[in-house]
Amino acid sequence: MSVDWGHVFAGRVGGMTASEIRELLKLIDRPEIISFAGGIPDPDFFPSAAIARAYEKIFQSNSGAGSALQYTLTEGFTPLREWISAYMGRNGVNVGLDGVLITNGSQQVLEFVGKLLIGPGDKILVTRPTYLGALQAFSPYEPVYISIPMEAEGPDLAALEAGLAEKPKFFYLVPDFQNPNGTTISLARREAILDLCAAAGVPVIEDTAYSELRYDGQQLPLMAALDCARNGGKLTNVIYCGTFSKTIVPALRVGWVNAAPEVINRLVLMKQAADLHTSTINQIVMHDVVSQLFDSHIKHLKTQYKERRDAMLNALEEFAPPGVTWTKPEGGLFVWVEAQEGVDGTELLERAIKEANVAFVPGSAFHADRSGKNTLRLAFSVTKPERIREGIRRLCGLLKTVD
Ligand SMILES: Cc1ncc(COP(=O)(O)O)c(C=O)c1O
Repeated sequence: MSVDWGHVFAGRVGGMTASEIRELLKLIDRPEIISFAGGIPDPDFFPSAAIARAYEKIFQSNSGAGSALQYTLTEGFTPLREWISAYMGRNGVNVGLDGVLITNGSQQVLEFVGKLLIGPGDKILVTRPTYLGALQAFSPYEPVYISIPMEAEGPDLAALEAGLAEKPKFFYLVPDFQNPNGTTISLARREAILDLCAAAGVPVIEDTAYSELRYDGQQLPLMAALDCARNGGKLTNVIYCGTFSKTIVPALRVGWVNAAPEVINRLVLMKQAADLHTSTINQIVMHDVVSQLFDSHIKHLKTQYKERRDAMLNALEEFAPPGVTWTKPEGGLFVWVEAQEGVDGTELLERAIKEANVAFVPGSAFHADRSGKNTLRLAFSVTKPERIREGIRRLCGLLKTVD
């Protein structure tokens, strides 16, 4: 007799569904396709030489690479935690060493947040749209999502108040240049969210994957910094998710979480159970690299990505047919397009790949309630400006035919 796997899977596995657009996106690796699909940094900008030198240093040191190849503390490599603690301090978040836990990217923090806070049937607040990977991290814990619509300035406050009245476990946010729609929450809205959430006793999960990549406008305070300022310098109501994936490289898988000590203590136990610790050698390398070049590298990235953002916005201005609107992000990697009413983004993607050799991600994937059928996420990060213009020209040509 063979095992009926469907029968023995835990109930929560039902919440782990593969995205239907995955199959379509497998087709986009062909060189003729201009892809705006991958929300990833451009490998041409990776500080590869500095990374190579950092590994060489480890293997050439007199003491050998033994300790770099050994198990390490669950909390993470101490010099890297010190670097992060100082970096957060410069950004108004005073967490000592004990307030920093290194993780395998910030994706692991989201998974831990799900495990820490969500019981089956618990309500949680997310924005509409929100980061797909967060939905994937939370769904196995069987939450009931309440989606708070995003306006130009941030989440709709009346909807937030109504959502908070449902006693949710947390509110998950990407305040800067949000994946997927590129919007940034204004300072006034950040304060209002913190007011409302604090009054309801609901924690805010702040995901800052893109916060360093601002191309114009004024840098806004982190919600974690505003929370510290309200609470005598102590991080209290916010769990902060940080990552080096978009500022340095994703493949070393180094991110971190800052939170109140009782939260960090629990997360350390989760990290221990999950994988003991993040790769020792990768943390040592990341520490070496960020100590040398964090600020100068970000300056370089901003110049490069700004050019691409501008190329995409200019091309949309030039080619988009009437009835199509889009966001004008001040940073990050994404522009969000709202196509004409009635357009189905998934059907459009199929046609775009076949007829126009261009790809994007349909926006409905980023909606917990599966709405947003006529929205599209366009990443400008991995395409050179001339190709961006050509890709947008082709995509807009297709949009003209669906009216
Ligand atoms: C908003 C957001 N949060 C978190 C992540 C996860 O990144 P990482 O695990 O590489 O830090 C991503 C990745 O694209 C993201 O867009």
